Amino acid sequence: MTVWWLLLALSFLSFSNGLHKTNKYEGYKIYSVTSKARSVVLAKTLTELAKKESYYEVFSGFKGGNAAKVMVHPKEQVNFVKLMDKHNADYDIIDGDVGLTLSSDFETNRMLRERFPYNGRLGTERYYTHDEINQFIEDLAKEYPSRVFLKTVGKSYEGRSLKTITITNGDARRNKNVFLVDGGFHAREWISPATAVYLISQLVENLEENADLLQDFDWVILPVVNPDGYEFTQTSADNRLWRKTRKPSSADCIGTDPNRNFDFHWNEEGASPDPCALDYAGPKAFSEPEAVVMADLIHSYADRGKMYLTLHSYGSLILYPWGWTTDVPDTVDDLHEVAEAGQQAILEDTGTVYRIGPSTETIGYAASGASDDYAFNAGFPISFTMELPFGGTGFDPPASDIDHLVKETWVGIAAMARKVREKYPLVNLPSGARRIIF
Ligand code: ARG
Ligand code: ZN
Repeated sequence: MTVWWLLLALSFLSFSNGLHKTNKYEGYKIYSVTSKARSVVLAKTLTELAKKESYYEVFSGFKGGNAAKVMVHPKEQVNFVKLMDKHNADYDIIDGDVGLTLSSDFETNRMLRERFPYNGRLGTERYYTHDEINQFIEDLAKEYPSRVFLKTVGKSYEGRSLKTITITNGDARRNKNVFLVDGGFHAREWISPATAVYLISQLVENLEENADLLQDFDWVILPVVNPDGYEFTQTSADNRLWRKTRKPSSADCIGTDPNRNFDFHWNEEGASPDPCALDYAGPKAFSEPEAVVMADLIHSYADRGKMYLTLHSYGSLILYPWGWTTDVPDTVDDLHEVAEAGQQAILEDTGTVYRIGPSTETIGYAASGASDDYAFNAGFPISFTMELPFGGTGFDPPASDIDHLVKETWVGIAAMARKVREKYPLVNLPSGARRIIF
């Protein structure tokens, strides 16, 4: 342990001495902005700033009293501060040099990888690579052959295998209801695959405690939907904030937002036609193999699927349809009731406050062509985007936070799954689906 701390201290010193390699976020700052009055005008201003993508990235709007987080290019600092003053906004710098933060995180991750090599299990000590996650689910399938099944459901643009893990209680009953969960749509949201991994570990290795969750439901989980993007964010601090896929989208720009690429109200509000934009909808619906894979999964479970859950960060939100419009579905009360179960459970567990509600209203912007609306429309009665909590500069909770974040999220997910079980009990199990007696 001492050596470990020494290494950490040394790496920190070398950064603060200016010995670090610079990266493209050097001198960028992240501001937290609030406005007591005139927040509507300020929100509009921030939306405008967000369009100047080479200077600004607006990470979240101020809905429900939350502060907006805005990352600002070094050359824009003066303008930004003036603008905020003009709007009488209150602002704090929450990260004075994003480049430094990302470089030091990068170094920490490298050291953690060395200190905690893959050993057949994925703990919560550090973030994992896509290969390690696939290896882990393969190892589980070998270890629990009667309860865990893997399926390669497709390939990413760069050829990485997309594998689902199906977790059952091993009673060999077929045609149970299904919970479908995914993570890693957006490359930089590392806490999402980490949560999917924890969920998998709990369901597989903690059968006794979670027996009810596997009684009449199977769980199908795709831990990393966008592995090309995810791996790219691990290659250098420069790439840490990458969000999209990695397929070239124009001569100058790479990637499509996989969560704007679904063929349901594709390329409408909250999705950009600009190939360089962070929320680029793609040249056409389902242009991205990763989105196609996810849509296929959604359809193949649409009849048995009772809850679709897609894990994102950040915002501490449980969002339900619709996300493409401000309209709400007729079954809004059902959606709300399940979301509330998750919200309450997390609150009781750790005190973390989640906001819940219809997506567009709750997150403060519409986003069309997303997987949650797609799954809901395809037949999942419950469909949620869970935005896990803010950490670090936003998308990079330090590794030391993984443990409590994934644990509290699991508590929320389990509570929602229990509520879904209560609301949508398994009926009419076909004959022949009885327990097999050996
Ligand atoms: N942060 C997510 C995104 O921007 C939110 C998606 C919510 N769902 C929706 N259909 N708008 O992709
Ligand atoms: Zn996301």
